[in-house]
Amino acid sequence: MTGKQTLPEATADGQDVVLEVREVFKHFRMRRTSLRGERPQVHAVDGISVRLRAGRTLGLVGESGCGKSTLGRLITGLDTPTSGSVRVGTELRDITAGADGKVQAVFQDPASALDPRMTARASVAEALGGVAKDERERRIDEAFASVGLPLELGSRYPHQLSGGQQQRVCIARALIARPDLILLDEAVSSLDASLQAQVLDLLERLQRETGTAYVFISHDLRAVRQVSHSMAVMYLGQIVEEAPSEAFDRGLLHPYAVALRSTEPGIFQGEEGIERIVLRGEPPSAVNPPPGCRFAPRCPIADDRCVEVAPELTEVSNGHRVRCHRPGELTLNPASPTGAVTTGAAESGGEL
Ligand SMILES: Nc1ncnc2c1ncn2[C@@H]1O[C@H](COP(=O)(O)OP(=O)(O)OP(=O)(O)O)[C@@H](O)[C@H]1O
Ligand code: SF4
Ligand SMILES: [Mg+2]
Repeated sequence: MTGKQTLPEATADGQDVVLEVREVFKHFRMRRTSLRGERPQVHAVDGISVRLRAGRTLGLVGESGCGKSTLGRLITGLDTPTSGSVRVGTELRDITAGADGKVQAVFQDPASALDPRMTARASVAEALGGVAKDERERRIDEAFASVGLPLELGSRYPHQLSGGQQQRVCIARALIARPDLILLDEAVSSLDASLQAQVLDLLERLQRETGTAYVFISHDLRAVRQVSHSMAVMYLGQIVEEAPSEAFDRGLLHPYAVALRSTEPGIFQGEEGIERIVLRGEPPSAVNPPPGCRFAPRCPIADDRCVEVAPELTEVSNGHRVRCHRPGELTLNPASPTGAVTTGAAESGGEL
């Protein structure tokens, strides 16, 4: 797998940018109260900023509960941020002002995304709004063909379709509206391997043809790497590393990103010997994130400063940002018995 080449960065004046997320926070207040009578808050998304240009894909990765879907819901306007702003589309309109179909989304669970009283064809047609009948029928046929759905399935209701077929209806519905941005949250996870490959190829082809930008969330690092121009690694509500996709092949700097990356040995050429770094311990709670670096309780090279001082997300090269006091000090090494070389105070963490 060769992966994508990085396109030139966004121009300074923001031309071509179709998504701009600025310092977005989303905290959920919990129902229960603490012993001190306070209602704790879940820090699901904690100060995230990203930009995405037309025709590009941003991959979002990170373990379960790190806030990927919450960020996705903020990007699509399904939820509103506690603070910060989300602007979308070629005119960069605030999502809270209505995005006029500029953003579409495909989620993990197609059954709940489809209206049980609507046929597949009607569900897809609904996304087209006021388009004239002939044009509408042509585009529906085209959308069905694009996602590999036989036209005769158009008269079926969701419960008469398999999970894979339901998801293809959802993807057709998102594509047909010709949005500037599509959020794909575990969108291909329910498809079998060959269909998944077909849909990923389809998404790439459509992106080349239409310039639609994607935010692609998946547990499958290979799938994310295949389609993404840049990737952001999230940990406990924050981005800890964001980089052009090639950096994923060879230059990750954050210990969590390095560990995550090691779970896919052989994903890129020449690294079959790399051993998997297994992170022990549960991530700390998003209700009470640790005051210093959020990864410190699990980081093998954490030192006193890491526990006390929260690192900032810092640009280390063009488009490559990392949130760590000791970037690049934990590296993968196929020759090492653990697969990892550490420098510094490994004894203060040592959880690998
Ligand atoms: N409506 C809500 N009310 C309270 N807490 C929520 C709500 N939605 C999400 N959370 C919490 O926010 C955090 C982030 O959840 P989110 O669904 O964004 O994670 P995720 O990265 O998408 O996980 P997964 O990979 O399992 O889908 C979790 O701790 C979750 O329990
Ligand atoms: S080295 Fe320190 S700052 Fe960097 S990830 Fe580990 S604990 Fe966090
Ligand atoms: Mg999720």
